[in-house]
Amino acid sequence: MRAERPRLGLLRRVAARRPEGNGKTGHSPRPENHAARRLARAPLRIAAHVRRSGWLTVRGARCCHRKPPLINQPPEATTKSDSGLHGTIAAVDEYQRVIASLREAYGPGPAVMREGWDKETFKAEERRRFLHLLRERGATSLLEVGAGPGHDSLYFQGQGLRVLCTDLSPDMVELCKAKGLDARVADFLGLGVPPASFDAVYALNCLLHVPTPDLPRVLKAISEVLVPDGLLYVGTWGGKDEEGPVPDERYPVPRFFAFRSDQVMRQLLAEHFDILSFTTFESGSDHFQSFILHKPAALSPDGEPS
Ligand SMILES: C[S@@+](CC[C@H](N)C(=O)[O-])C[C@H]1O[C@@H](n2cnc3c(N)ncnc32)[C@H](O)[C@@H]1O
Repeated sequence: MRAERPRLGLLRRVAARRPEGNGKTGHSPRPENHAARRLARAPLRIAAHVRRSGWLTVRGARCCHRKPPLINQPPEATTKSDSGLHGTIAAVDEYQRVIASLREAYGPGPAVMREGWDKETFKAEERRRFLHLLRERGATSLLEVGAGPGHDSLYFQGQGLRVLCTDLSPDMVELCKAKGLDARVADFLGLGVPPASFDAVYALNCLLHVPTPDLPRVLKAISEVLVPDGLLYVGTWGGKDEEGPVPDERYPVPRFFAFRSDQVMRQLLAEHFDILSFTTFESGSDHFQSFILHKPAALSPDGEPS
């Protein structure tokens, strides 16, 4: 398994020094080196590969995680099971298991910790660029998903947009409400807002918590709440195709991360959206992917945009 270890570099770096807590913000305490050492020793074996179809599979992820290991199945494996129904239930179970552990991970302590973190300059500039585009297009409403403590929602609300922010963590949502934001507990597959009710959706650093086989469903759910011609911002760490639970001593349980190569990310997003822009940023040896996406206008019965 030693040969597979280098493939875990990104996961390991997240645990060790990601600006989710990297030293650049000045606010988030740098994790001790022994967190990285502990992860390096953990019986974690992830062999990720992109199949010809472009889907990512993880063959055997084991980690010092309280819950059973997460084994992602490619979509065809979840739909071609004996009964069909069984595969669907297995996929839902896995998504539910991941979000249950994330809800525990993003509990009161980490929520307060993240509340104090500063935004990296490049993320703030990407946010400004998105706002500029929203203004050009006359957008007035924005839904933030995976909003965390609501820093970005507060920014967009301060710029005059009608904002709703959502997160699966009740502790994060409390922090959002304390800022005067309209906030509610909701996960990506249960947003609980009417179809076509927002001009824009903002998803920063949160889709990296969705197992890759579940990402198409999540993107579909996001697309449904956007008006035709609506805009989606997706910013996420990635670069390599690897996913699994990552222990980090700042969080009570390991968090599930899914990092994707530029090629896989573009392919997954392009199934639901037009890609208006794709920009990457390097932070040390970490790779950030920034997408501005457009939901195609509804088609009339003759196939033309209406
Ligand atoms: C890394 S934090 C980022 C928070 C914020 N967007 C930011 O950039 O500071 C990820 C957030 O996504 C939320 N999250 C993860 N998976 C989610 C899901 N399936 N549905 C809703 N929120 C989710 C977590 O609770 C957490 O607050």
